[in-house]
Parts: sequence; C-alpha cells; structure tokens
Amino acid sequence: MATKSSNSNFHRAAKVKNDEFYTQLADIEKELKHYKDQFGGKVVYCNCDDPFESNFFKYFAANFKALGLKRLIATSYKPSPIANTQLGLFGDDKTLEPQKGRPKVNANKLIINDVGDLDDDGAFDLKDVAEQLKANKNNEWAPLDGEGDFRSPESTELLKQADIVVTNPPFSLFREYVNQLVEYKKRFLIIGNDNARTYVDIFELMQKNKIWSGYEKVKEFIQPDGSIKGFGNVGWYTNLDVAKRHESLTLYKKYSPKEYPKYANYDALEVSKVTDIPVDYDGEMGVPISFLDKYNPDQFEIVGSSSNLSGPIKTKDGLVYRYKDRNGYMRQAANERFALPDGDTWRRIYDRIVIRKK
Ligand SMILES: C[S@@+](CC[C@H](N)C(=O)[O-])C[C@H]1O[C@@H](n2cnc3c(N)ncnc32)[C@H](O)[C@@H]1O
Repeated sequence: MATKSSNSNFHRAAKVKNDEFYTQLADIEKELKHYKDQFGGKVVYCNCDDPFESNFFKYFAANFKALGLKRLIATSYKPSPIANTQLGLFGDDKTLEPQKGRPKVNANKLIINDVGDLDDDGAFDLKDVAEQLKANKNNEWAPLDGEGDFRSPESTELLKQADIVVTNPPFSLFREYVNQLVEYKKRFLIIGNDNARTYVDIFELMQKNKIWSGYEKVKEFIQPDGSIKGFGNVGWYTNLDVAKRHESLTLYKKYSPKEYPKYANYDALEVSKVTDIPVDYDGEMGVPISFLDKYNPDQFEIVGSSSNLSGPIKTKDGLVYRYKDRNGYMRQAANERFALPDGDTWRRIYDRIVIRKK
C-alpha cells in the first residue's frame, strides 16, 4: 500500500522537475522476465540512459545473447547531474572506470551489435562489455552532437531504428515522451506514475487499447547521492503483450440497487472496489482507476472517465453541483467528478473509470 509520504515524493518530483531517480536492476529483472520471448531479433533503445550508469543498459547488455537481441542502443542526457560521473550502479566493476578518450561532458551514445564471452568465463557480463568496447568490435561508442534530448534529431533518428524502447523516462516529461513513442509507432516498456492514467491523452490511449499496464509496481529508486527513495503508485506502461490482459477478473458479487447506488450526475453504478464489480449487471459502472491493472479488453469496454462524463447537478435553489467536502463544508464544484446522493446534498467521489461488460 502506498504511503502518503512516498506518494508526495512523486508529486514533488514532478513539480520541481527533479527527474533524477534511477531504476534498480532487481526491478528491471522482475518486470522484464515476463516479456523474454518478445525481444528476439529486436533493436532495443534506452533513450534516457547513460550507458555507464543505467541498469537498463546493464540488463540488456548482460542479457543480449539470452534475449537474442539484434542491437542495443543507449543514449545519455547531457544535463543529467550524473552524466559521466559514475553513479556506481555497476558495483565494483573497475573495468568500467572512465577510460581514455571517453567523452567527459557530452551526452553519448553506445551501440552494441555483437557480444561474446571474451573472458571465457562462460557468461557474458559487464566486464565483457568493457572488453568489447575496448576492442571496438562492431560496436560503437561516440559523443552525441547535441544534448541527448529524446526529442532531438539525433535521438529521433535512433528511435526510428528501434523496435522496442525500454526505460524509465523523466517523470516531468512523461506525456510528451509517450506521445512521441506512439507517433513513431514504437513498441515500448517504460516506468511511469500511476497518476498519469488520469491525464487526458494517456487515458485515451488506454481506453483505445493502445497502451496498458505492465505487471509490477516499482517501489524504490536510487537518487544521485546513492540513497534510496520510496515511491507509491509507480508502475510500468507498455504496448507489448502481457498475459494478464487475457485473464478475466473473477466476479462473484450480485447486483442490488441498495449496495450499488447510481451517481446523481451520470447514469452509472458506483462500484467502490474493483473486486466488487457485480457479475450480473450489464449497464455502465464507475470503478477506481486501479481497475486498469486488471483490465482485460475482451471482458470489459472502457466507456470514459468521471472527468469527461460527469454532468452538472441542479439544486432546488438553482446552484450547480454542491457537495460536502471531507470536513463537512458545503462546496460548489465544476462537474469533473461523480457525485452520489447523500441526504439533501451529494458526496463527491474520487476519479472513476466507467466500464461496461462486453
Ligand atoms: C527518472 S531518470 C531515470 C534514468 C534511467 N533511465 C534509469 O532508469 O535509471 C530519467 C533520466 O532522463 C534524463 N532526462 C531528463 N530530461 C531528458 C530529456 N529531455 N531527454 C532525455 N533524457 C532526459 C534525466 O537526466 C534522467 O537521467
């Protein structure tokens, strides 16, 4: 369960544009294990990833052969405070100390086309990556002309060559980041805040089954000083196939008008818990946003959300939509949320997704 403080960390990050939270290898492995059969013969691009610091790069370099990748591309972002400073994510691997000729202040790109177990220890590891780079065998490591912004012409050119983009992009640019991937029709697996599902364009993509949730939540990230910061409600977004999208939610509750009241400003039932969706109701139902973690498009259709469907309520004194807030004060609101009748007033309901059985 997300804590209040861990959630507010994320909001603070988005607000002050602090995008420097790095993903731990264990979280990448936990999610990526579900997609292994989808990477064979593919070009993977990590476009917000300093190849010398990112665990995404580390994961794909070390699993290059096991996944059967065709190519791995990583580009770093020059303004990153850790660019070229060795965060230490590579542990004690001294072979990856900055080398002669390594670009010092530039953003850089690293392209791996070929890996082999150079030190002959039976496993391809990061030492081998370093060796391969030194030998410069069919691999490329060069400074970028610009800053490595994912929207820059250089990065966009690399994006065009990619089949699958995998990374944890800057929190503050999430919307723009996803829109670019969709525009270039790329497959992707990326980390983002669950709240992004309420952004109009991201919600629309989920509604149209263009993107969906991955499997896991990511609870902790590494900060530039090496400390760990906890987050609530951060997970994976993807358009790669996930098995759980094909699994139906098991429904067991029966509909009753008493247990499932209708909203005063939209013709749908309030279902306050996803597990309480009634098995025998065919009309529209409002469910919490966490429904998206369980959504099977063969079982349900997404009709819309409370922010685009809720209408105004006219009271007898002519006011539009008054509700009682958490402290019991009467408030007047824009019609962006559903409201349930509550005596002679209304109770405002948290964001809802409206669904209907298929
Ligand atoms: C949340 S961090 C994650 C870093 C890395 N992908 C990982 O998972 O450990 C996002 C990274 O994107 C970089 N970044 C910020 N703005 C960027 C941009 N416009 N283009 C590319 N990268 C950017 C940041 O410097 C930061 O290193």
